[in-house]
This record gives sequence, structure tokens and C-alpha cells, in this order.
Amino acid sequence: MKISVIGAGNVGSTVANALAYKDIVKEVVLLDIKEGVAEGKSLDMWETSPIEMYGTMITGSTNDYTKTAGSDVTVITSGIPRKPGMSRDDLIATNAKIVKSVTEQVVKHSPDTIIIVVANPLDVMTYTAYKASGLPSNKVFGMAGILDTARYRSFLAMELNVSPKDIQALLMGGHGDTMVPLPRYTTVAGIPVTEMIDSEKLDAIVQRTKTGGGEIVKLMGTSAWYAPGAAAAQMVEAIVKDEPRIFPCCTWLTGEYGLNDIYLGVPVKLGKNGIEEILEVDLNEDEKAMLYQSAEAVRGVMGVLDDMDLF
Ligand code: NAI
Ligand code: 2OP
Repeated sequence: MKISVIGAGNVGSTVANALAYKDIVKEVVLLDIKEGVAEGKSLDMWETSPIEMYGTMITGSTNDYTKTAGSDVTVITSGIPRKPGMSRDDLIATNAKIVKSVTEQVVKHSPDTIIIVVANPLDVMTYTAYKASGLPSNKVFGMAGILDTARYRSFLAMELNVSPKDIQALLMGGHGDTMVPLPRYTTVAGIPVTEMIDSEKLDAIVQRTKTGGGEIVKLMGTSAWYAPGAAAAQMVEAIVKDEPRIFPCCTWLTGEYGLNDIYLGVPVKLGKNGIEEILEVDLNEDEKAMLYQSAEAVRGVMGVLDDMDLF
């Protein structure tokens, strides 16, 4: 299997590195527009192979898409990250053009690829890649839910002093501050989380999760990459191994949850065909209201994309 990662910046190089360590594919191609950067990072990573004991070949490319030809999965990370004071939505003017042109070149050389979008604003950039690719929606989806759920799970693990391995959780909605962590679908080794933590502390963790991306931007002056890279690599793994796994992914909805013609985070089965099934879990009135509020926020950003007249 061959995987391409577009954008060899913080997130893209971390995805490539995480994939190499997993040793589950024959080749990873890392591509960037900056001369030599993808080649340099790929060579550096490949030189860890005798130490880390993997055989996945990592190849770099400066904007030469012929090297990505025949990719089974492509991860699109190319795009600017936010700086302190910016929201993910402020990135749209720059990133929509990048994601559109990159996607067109990707599908020209890999017409059957599955595309995982990472660039922000995530839900609308996933829609941009869907429109630009002409691929069916089961093959174009975005990474956000695994990252946001991982933040939620890691905060709970710290608070409860348990291993993060024992925290299972679901989070839905757009990749923004209106995302919807779902305590009703959160367990600690099968025990409902609400039996382990008081509601005030749980509310604080839900709030910290919603602004988890911004917390890191404030600390570092740019956005996160270790957890985002690991999350995207986990999606690739589910596809490559045809596990299939159940993850919240940014997915094209056609009536599920009463929502139409929008990319939004919902639980799906992820396997060799990409999104194999969209899972509709029961939501109470409060949860539905929060999901619809999140969908409205994404539709607002879709409006900005429409005004750009890219399609
Ligand atoms: P970065 O600035 O470190 O890397 C971006 C790379 O894209 C740069 O190396 C740049 O040269 C490259 N690039 C720009 N235009 C390109 C083009 N036309 N073709 C090929 N490469 C191009 O940024 P970072 O931190 O890696 O973030 C990348 C994107 O991912 C940002 O939009 C960020 O907001 C987003 N992100 C999304 C997350 C999510 O949960 N969905 C999590 C973390 C970041
Ligand atoms: C994050 O949540 C910036 O979307 C990126 O870290």
C-alpha cells in the first residue's frame, strides 16, 4: 500500500513519522511546495528505520505529484496553521485555495485514492476537497473527532487518575469551539463517567476540550501536531488494515441526524472503502440542540467559501 501526505510541515511530517513507526504500508510519500523540505525530512525519517526497525520507505517530493501516483490513501495537511488570537475559520481565504489545487493534483495522479483532510477550517476544507476531487463521499472525509475525543479522554484520565486506555468516549459536531463532547456516551472501563466524577468537574473538562486546540496555540504560538498527526495515522491504519474501527470523522451527511449537505463530525465505521457506515446514535433534546448549533457554525463558514466562488 502507498500513502501520500501533502504538506511536510508540523502535522504532515508527524503523520508520515507515525505511519513509518507502525510499519503497516510499503511506502509513504511526503510532498511540500518548499524546495527540499519534504526530501530532507523524509531522508531524516528513513534514517531512523534501522533504529526503530521498520521497513516503510519514506520518499520526499517538492511539488512533483507524479511521485504520489497510485496512492491508496492521501492525507492533506497543506495549509497555514492559526496563530494566537485567530480562530480556525480565519484560515479559510488562504487554505481553501491550497486545498482545492492540491486535491486536483492528487486525484489526477491517484484517481482511486481515499482522501483524509486535516487542513483547517476542517469541516469546510473537507467539503472543498470533496468538491475538487469528484470522488464519492465515502472516500473523502476529515480528521478532527479522533483528536478532539483524545483530548477529552486524556483530560478525564488525568482528573480520574486512571489510564487513558480505559476511557472510551464519543464527541460529535464541527471542529470548532461548538464541538459536542457527549458525557452520556463516555465510560471508564465500561462504567458511566457520570458515576466517577461530579458534574462541575465534568463540565470543566468538556469546556477545556472544546478550546483544547486554542490552549496549545496560546502556549506555542502555532497549533498542535503530535496528537493531530497520531490521529490521522490512526485513520490510515484503520483503512489499510480494514479493521474496521468506529471513530468520529468529519463526514458528508445526507439526512443522518436530520442534517443534509454538510460535512460534520459523526461516528462512522472506517475500513478499506473509507467510510463504510455512518452510525446514528440516539441523542436527547439538549444534545441535538448542541449538534445543530455546531452545524450552523459550520454552515456559516460554508457561506464564506461560497462567496469565494472557487467552484
Ligand atoms: P505547517 O505550517 O507546519 O505546515 C503546512 C505545510 O503546508 C508547510 O510546510 C507548507 O509549505 C505546506 N504547503 C502550503 N501550501 C502548499 C501547497 N500548495 N502544496 C503543498 N504544500 C503546501 O502547519 P501545520 O501545523 O502542519 O498545520 C497544517 C494544517 O493543519 C493547518 O491548516 C492547521 O490548522 C491544520 N490542523 C488541523 C488539525 C485538525 O484537527 N484537523 C490539527 C492540527 C492542525
Ligand atoms: C487543533 O485542534 C489547530 O485544529 C487544530 O489543534
